[in-house]
Amino acid sequence: MNILVTGGAGYIGSHTLVELYKAGHNVLVVDNLCNSSRESLRRVAKIVGIDEVPFREVDIRDRENLDLLFEENHFDACIHFAGLKAVGESVSMPWEYYDNNIGGTLTLLDVMRKHGCKKLIFSSSATVYGAATEMPIKETCPRGLCTNPYGWTKSMLEQVMEDMAKADREWRIVLLRYFNPVGAHESGLIGEDPNGVPNNLMPYISQVALGKREYLGVFGNDYETVDGTGVRDYIHVMDLAAGHVAALKALDIKDGVKIYNLGTGRGYSVLEMVQAFEQENGVKVPYVIQGRRAGDVAICYSDPSLAQSELGWSAKRGINEMVRDSWRWQQMNPDGYSK
Ligand code: NAD
Ligand code: WQD
Repeated sequence: MNILVTGGAGYIGSHTLVELYKAGHNVLVVDNLCNSSRESLRRVAKIVGIDEVPFREVDIRDRENLDLLFEENHFDACIHFAGLKAVGESVSMPWEYYDNNIGGTLTLLDVMRKHGCKKLIFSSSATVYGAATEMPIKETCPRGLCTNPYGWTKSMLEQVMEDMAKADREWRIVLLRYFNPVGAHESGLIGEDPNGVPNNLMPYISQVALGKREYLGVFGNDYETVDGTGVRDYIHVMDLAAGHVAALKALDIKDGVKIYNLGTGRGYSVLEMVQAFEQENGVKVPYVIQGRRAGDVAICYSDPSLAQSELGWSAKRGINEMVRDSWRWQQMNPDGYSK
């Protein structure tokens, strides 16, 4: 298939490109590089053995250039990663998040339908469940109250896409609700490259192990969990990438909107992650117990069985591969893509 990949220079997008090429698809990446660099695409090209990944530096809010792109190319489907994703930043810059994520996606959807391209895979998030009342979380669990504007952008966009698919039966949309993506490609060439102080656990742990940060702050040890620290469903980014290739098949056979959790179905606590990282990689990760972080839930993990039964997809990599590949990427690229 010919696939438009928005946000393809980013963390999950770049890993998905590797799987798309492996599966024989053609891609064109659009990205405004607001949270990524061309270097990730050069590395993808190296991994898959091509000269370069076709790329256009375009902001998805730029209707004119998006329109031009669809005039010049035929796309069978779009995988839409482009968006801002920092939870804390979204609280202090809500307008920018609604403008970029919602404004950008509305423009993309409009240009897509104008050109008759009505197949879309959308990066949604487990965050749309809010404080879920069931665990593990199934796709039938209703969307809940989000605790931040970032989460609301995902929740609102899911609603927009459901309404559009109801009104126009030609749309085929897959909403993928990711749990906690971690890890990196096994080559160590591509990985997660956060700006400044990482918000997420795994890049923080890696930077502490490298000595870039003194210690990990563990946000609360008084939750009702195995050791009091928060439990999450961490999923290797290459498994997540494979989930997108599997979802492309669903676009061919299903109508309307389909929703799938992409997780492993297994939760690990913060301290279990620290321990696994230390043991697997033979490094020390000093930590300090701190207060709870606002907006955090105690436990969140998926029931991924629907993706297994309908897409034939399941996560293959375990916690050891997750921490090993994160560490390899961090060691080989201490300053991310800038070096
Ligand atoms: P990322 O920031 O690494 O990648 C997003 C990419 O989109 C970046 O390359 C950025 O430059 C680009 N982008 C942002 N706004 C754009 C715009 N207006 N026009 C063109 N390009 C734009 O993030 P990621 O971790 O790869 O996440 C990809 C998608 O998955 C996002 O939509 C994110 O919300 C979603 N998601 C991420 C996680 C996670 O923990 N990483 C979890 C659930 C969902
Ligand atoms: C994981 C656990 C923290 C950092 C976020 C977004 C969510 C989704 C994935 C996009 C929690 C603890 C963390 C640290 C810590 N993104 N922690 N010290 O919060 O589950 O999910 O990323 O859609 O929307 O909210 O992930 O990696 O931030 O935290 O103790 O320095 O690690 O409290 O229990 P989270 P995370």
